Amino acid sequence: MAKKIEIPQHIAIVMDGNGRWAKERGLPRTAGHQAGEKVLFDLVEACIEFGVKEVSAYAFSTENWKRSPEEVKFLMGYSREMLRTRRDRLNEMGVKINWLGRPQKLWKSVISELEEAEELTKNNKVLTLNMCVNYGGRAEMLDAAVAIAKDALRRKVKPDSLSEKSLRKYLYSPQMSDVDLFLRSSGEQRTSNFLMWQLAYTELYFTKILWPDFKKKNFYKAIFDYQKRERRFGKTSQQILDNNV
Ligand code: IPE
Ligand code: IPE
Ligand code: MG
Repeated sequence: MAKKIEIPQHIAIVMDGNGRWAKERGLPRTAGHQAGEKVLFDLVEACIEFGVKEVSAYAFSTENWKRSPEEVKFLMGYSREMLRTRRDRLNEMGVKINWLGRPQKLWKSVISELEEAEELTKNNKVLTLNMCVNYGGRAEMLDAAVAIAKDALRRKVKPDSLSEKSLRKYLYSPQMSDVDLFLRSSGEQRTSNFLMWQLAYTELYFTKILWPDFKKKNFYKAIFDYQKRERRFGKTSQQILDNNV
């Protein structure tokens, strides 16, 4: 029997290469971030066309604070403007915006913009867009560990009865599904502290294209590549074939 044509339900994206794109053109790094902004929204549109239900976009990592103060300042202000200008259109498209990340250090105005966008779009069902701003996978695991330890002290949780399912409730977004496809532009082949728990069984896809140059056709290529993979989750190929019959 032919293999089912599967659409990844949750795609995580590391939008990388903005700085190099700008450098190649003799422009400041910030011009690369500006050029990359539209690409994400075109991709969200393509995801809706394909029936993808969830997209997680890495916009600013807990490690990105190490960049120059000027670049950090630009990225903070730019995230705020981007949310403000895009949220109504995203709302019309049925996109639910969900912020993942730590409030510590993050500009208050960015937090309020994220919260306003969440409030505006909270009833939408077409696609969930997880905006990962001041997000780090290790920070998420650490924050979960601290919350579990506190609940154990208050006797709200029994350490021996913790399960993968109950641990999930301590993550930033417990309702978030596991990621099916991880996509990273710019040729770097690493996850850079993105979604550690949710990426455990994800199919990884890397492309050399720099993020501002990433087009819908490149996205389709990633989807076709994903569709050729066999996801076994520990089983054998034969078991997968037998289950599909
Ligand atoms: C990704 O592009 C955007 C952010 C990290 C915010 P980069 O800024 O990392 O671009 P490169 O890697 O320097 O080319
Ligand atoms: C990852 O890209 C973070 C974002 C895209 C927001 P980086 O460019 O910061 O990652 P490294 O430092 O090259 O691993
Ligand atoms: Mg980079």
